[in-house]
Amino acid sequence: MIKVTFSEAGDLMEKIQIGRTELNVNPLGLGTNKIGGYNLFPNLDDETGKKVVQTAIDHDVEMIDTAFMYGLGHSEELIGEVLQKNDRHKVVLATKGAQQVTADGKVTLNNTPDFLTKSVDESLQRLHTDYLDIFYIHFPDQDTPKAEAVGALQRLREAGKLRAIGVSNFSLDQVKEADADGYVDLVENQYNLLQQDAVKELVPYLNEQHISFVPYEPFAAALLTGRYAPDNLPHFEEGDHRLTIDLYKPDQLKANVAKVEQLKPIAAKYEATVAQLVLAWYMKNPLIGPVIPGARTPEQLLVNVQSESVQLNDSDYEAIARIFA
Ligand SMILES: NC(=O)c1ccc[n+]([C@@H]2O[C@H](COP(=O)([O-])OP(=O)(O)OC[C@H]3O[C@@H](n4cnc5c(N)ncnc54)[C@H](OP(=O)(O)O)[C@@H]3O)[C@@H](O)[C@H]2O)c1
Repeated sequence: MIKVTFSEAGDLMEKIQIGRTELNVNPLGLGTNKIGGYNLFPNLDDETGKKVVQTAIDHDVEMIDTAFMYGLGHSEELIGEVLQKNDRHKVVLATKGAQQVTADGKVTLNNTPDFLTKSVDESLQRLHTDYLDIFYIHFPDQDTPKAEAVGALQRLREAGKLRAIGVSNFSLDQVKEADADGYVDLVENQYNLLQQDAVKELVPYLNEQHISFVPYEPFAAALLTGRYAPDNLPHFEEGDHRLTIDLYKPDQLKANVAKVEQLKPIAAKYEATVAQLVLAWYMKNPLIGPVIPGARTPEQLLVNVQSESVQLNDSDYEAIARIFA
């Protein structure tokens, strides 16, 4: 991963280059499936969601990661509303598409060039912008040759509608197929301290190819924030997709919470929260590109933004790696 240090007004700050593009971003971004993602999470509030986005922009969070699938366009609409009141160029806007909603309301996957081209145009409209910084194919479909799907995005890049091309939830073989012509700049797949499969084969390959890796669910959907303890295990409302995640199943949950518990004394040394310590660990990890923690409230976002000031030393970085090895 190419992490470049820039000097801006005398400040040293690290930026991450996206693939081989000219796009450079701050290491800490924002994930927005809880902004308008009513089909994935219960009880979301649009006004709070918009405040999260505005607070992020106010605190120099550049990469904002959304998708059609978050509220079937609603997340993009809310972000678009906020963008209209801000300088568009301050934001590195990433969205995703591939889901087609059929007349009977079912969601199917479609990576055909025509569908992706239409998806990009519709995302541009909802986001009130004339270019996307990043567009990801959200999930691979069964039938479309992957290089053909990416070729359609390359034509949109040449037309000025997007700046970088990504794929998400693709296996290593699928990434190789998609990148046959060298057009893929980023891969967004699941990775966090509790779920490290991506770094076995996929991420080393991406680094060799100068393709950026954006890990999703960096807090394992909240387990890694330190808000739970052995005597305070999580309880989610019906409809929360976390009820289906293996990490939260009773047989795994206690062991996972016990690992996170070991982060608490390390976080205390830095006068940081566990969430901040975990984000600082990702930012120090040379294999990982921009981190996009989700936030439901401006307060959570403000805590996460402060992780940029946690300067983790090498021995604590290694100690954390060992806890989750
Ligand atoms: N490409 C894909 O297929 C894919 C899949 C999943 C996610 N994503 C992207 O990745 C982003 C991140 O994943 P995610 O949001 O699902 O999970 P996450 O970042 O692992 O966890 C976010 C959750 O952690 C909790 N949280 C955040 N900051 C906190 C803090 N400071 N203190 C205490 N709790 C805090 C909140 O939980 P509560 O809501 O319970 O308060 C928040 O909703 C998404 O928003 C989305 O943009 C992409």
